[in-house]
Amino acid sequence: MAIHLRSAEELQKMHRSGLVVHEVLTALRAAVEPGITTMDLEKLAEEKIAGRPGKAAFKGYKGYPCVLCTSVNSEIVHGIPSPKRKLREGEVVSIDFGIELDGYYADSAVTVPVGKISPELQKLLDVTRESLDRAIDKMRPGNRLGDVGYAVQSWVEQHGYSVVREFVGHGIGTKMHDEPNLPNYGEAGRGARLQEGMVIAVEPMVNAGGPEVRMRGEWVAETADGSPSAHFEHTVAITADGPWILTRPKRDDWTVLVE
Ligand code: MF3
Ligand code: CO
Repeated sequence: MAIHLRSAEELQKMHRSGLVVHEVLTALRAAVEPGITTMDLEKLAEEKIAGRPGKAAFKGYKGYPCVLCTSVNSEIVHGIPSPKRKLREGEVVSIDFGIELDGYYADSAVTVPVGKISPELQKLLDVTRESLDRAIDKMRPGNRLGDVGYAVQSWVEQHGYSVVREFVGHGIGTKMHDEPNLPNYGEAGRGARLQEGMVIAVEPMVNAGGPEVRMRGEWVAETADGSPSAHFEHTVAITADGPWILTRPKRDDWTVLVE
C-alpha cells in the first residue's frame, strides 16, 4: 500500500490537531507530582479536551478504555490509568495522548519524572529523548526509513540500553495508524524513501535493561526483566524545508521536555 503524501492544507490541519495534543500534554506534565494517581491525569486530560476542539483518539480505539496511556517505570506503553496507581517520588511516567480534529490525527508522548529521580533514570530519559531528536533530524526527503531507525538504535545501544521491537512508530493522517511502520531499529540506507508530504509518528521506546517485552493483560506492555523504560513521541511531517514537528507550537523548536 502506498504511503500518503499530504498537501500543505492537510499539514496545517494536522498541526492544529498537534497543537491541541501539545497543550494537553503540557498541562499533564506540569500536574505530575508525588501522590497524584494516573486516573487523576486521565481526568485532567478529559477536562482539558472538553474546552478544546477535537476528540480524544485513543478512547474506544480497539476497545481501549481511556483518553491517555500512562505507563509507569517498567511499563513500556499502553499503561491504563487507574485510581489505585498513585505516583511516587522517584518514578517515571510516560504520558501518551492523541487527538482527531477535523478528520486528522496527531499523536505524542513524553516521559515525565515524578519529583526527584535518580541520575540513572534521568540518563535513560535524556538518552531516549535525544534518540527522538536524532530520529527527527533524519526525517528529510531522500533519506530512508532505515536511516531513522538506525539513528535511534545506534544512539540507544551506544549507551547500553535497548530498543523495543514489538512496537513501532507509524504513518499518521486520516487514521491514527497508517503506512508505513517505523521500527526504532534498522540499517542506514535501507527501507522506503522518505518523501515530502509524508507524516510519521516517531516513538522510540527504550529499556534500561533487555529489549524483551511481557504483556500484562490485553494492553499493558512492560519490560520482561522489570527494568525501567522510557518513551517519547512526536508526529513529524517531512517537508522540503526539513522535518516539521506537528506536535510542537513552533516549527523549529525541538525541545521535548522543556517549554
Ligand atoms: N501512541 C500510541 C500508539 O501509537 C497510542 C495508541 S494507544 C491505543 O500506538 F489505545 F489507542 F491503542
Ligand atoms: Co503513536
